Amino acid sequence: MMVVDFLVVGGGVAGLRAAAGLAESGRVLVVTKEGLSESNTAYAQGGIAVAMGGDEDVALHLADTIVAGDALVHAQAAAVLVERGPKRVEELLAWGTQFDRYAADDPARAGALMKTREGAHTVPRILHAHGDGTGWEIAASLLRHVRGLEQVELMEWTTTVELIVDSDSDSDAGRVVGATLLDAAGGLREVRARAVLLASGGAGQVYSDTTNPAVATGDGIAMAYRAGAELMDMEFYQFHPTAFAMEGAPRFLMSEALRGEGAWLVNAQGERFMGRYHPGLELAPRDVVARAIAREAIDGPVYLDMREAGQKMDLKARFPGISKFLEGYGLELARDLIPVRPAAHYLMGGIRTDVNGRTSIPGLFAAGEAACTGVHGANRLASNSLLEGLVFGALAAEAMKGEVRGSRIEVQGKTEARGDEGGDVEGFIADLRGLMWRDAGLLRDAAGLRRAQDALAELQERMPQALTRRAQEARNLHAVAQVIVQAALGREESRGAHFRMDFPGKAKLALHSVVERGRLRFVERV
Ligand code: SIN
Repeated sequence: MMVVDFLVVGGGVAGLRAAAGLAESGRVLVVTKEGLSESNTAYAQGGIAVAMGGDEDVALHLADTIVAGDALVHAQAAAVLVERGPKRVEELLAWGTQFDRYAADDPARAGALMKTREGAHTVPRILHAHGDGTGWEIAASLLRHVRGLEQVELMEWTTTVELIVDSDSDSDAGRVVGATLLDAAGGLREVRARAVLLASGGAGQVYSDTTNPAVATGDGIAMAYRAGAELMDMEFYQFHPTAFAMEGAPRFLMSEALRGEGAWLVNAQGERFMGRYHPGLELAPRDVVARAIAREAIDGPVYLDMREAGQKMDLKARFPGISKFLEGYGLELARDLIPVRPAAHYLMGGIRTDVNGRTSIPGLFAAGEAACTGVHGANRLASNSLLEGLVFGALAAEAMKGEVRGSRIEVQGKTEARGDEGGDVEGFIADLRGLMWRDAGLLRDAAGLRRAQDALAELQERMPQALTRRAQEARNLHAVAQVIVQAALGREESRGAHFRMDFPGKAKLALHSVVERGRLRFVERV
């Protein structure tokens, strides 16, 4: 058994920023399932939205965040995000993050941070790095900083299997006192900690079409749920409108920043169609653009057209990552139409927390995409998630410092090693992802969601039992899928990213869904 002060699960922006804060108060163990370079953070292309221009700028960022969230944004959380954001970004700059700046041949702006605009932002406020490599740059500079902290130990290629809950603690919900880890060689070990932070990211892999990397299997969310934590707003999955859409190719993200820099969306007839759907055209809210593309795609492929915008800028310099990816398929932004369609991108819901990352179980904290503070409501404003990870990762660290170690060492619910993988784990996962995409995706109705519920119940019979990373991921995906479907079926309205074809209107009162131990309820945020 290993004993530390703080256990952090996940090495994206939220986990690393939290580790940096926690290191001031004790020994920190950061556990990641793969190498530290692999997280949703690292794949973020567009950038980080932040209002660096003073009070009016901050107020405008708050207003845009609230409007995007379709009446479900928790105003206190959003205010914390936009007000504390600039300080966190200045800290990143001090730690060596290189955001893109205007060059010397632009004397009026030389050296100033470049800002771009994305959907539903009223002004350009998105900082970027290496063109479309913002996530990599932020992750790399945080990692450099954290590697220099003596109190932090980084443990890669290690799967967190279950939380250890002391059910004899003073609280009815028990107390999280650590977790069981599985290393790459199949060895199990327990880690005890004063507080555990789940910063393990989202669950895009629950859908067959996703922009997320393979690690995004909802591990932290599923573990917290099994331990009895409340999950909130799990039906709100954001579908990014423009993932690369070529048969056999990955759903690589075609950043919203392309549309921010002037790309059009055109249908199979060559028509620029967004005018028929929203006055904001290509920069309408993400859910509107995603559904518009899905509708147009019934009659043929939909394309991003950057050819005209490409005459005004060097697209290879502005979008080096995307350009390199497209080159592999013989395509060029400035010359070709790029086939796109929506794909699962970001989970607005997650483990219910307050703004300090506290979950419904003492000792357990969550931050970043795994958490749900309500900051995004029903629909996240583009490029708000890197800022979310920084701000709420830092706040969770402050709150965790106040936790004291649970007194009992012997607790229930230990995980035992269980044999070989056996069964068809990949088949199980592929079936789950396919059914979720078909019946619980962008456009939903009761019949489809009930089909999904039945299919998930059938899949339960084939649940992999072994204790391997992949079998664990299969169980986690299944748990997350069940809650998404349950909450989506219960929400008989269309709001933000959740669109019910059988309930296209909005309910009068905007409520949050909460699922706890299989029970669904709707609550007003207090
Ligand atoms: C993008 O670059 O389009 C993604 C940014 C985000 O999801 O916030």
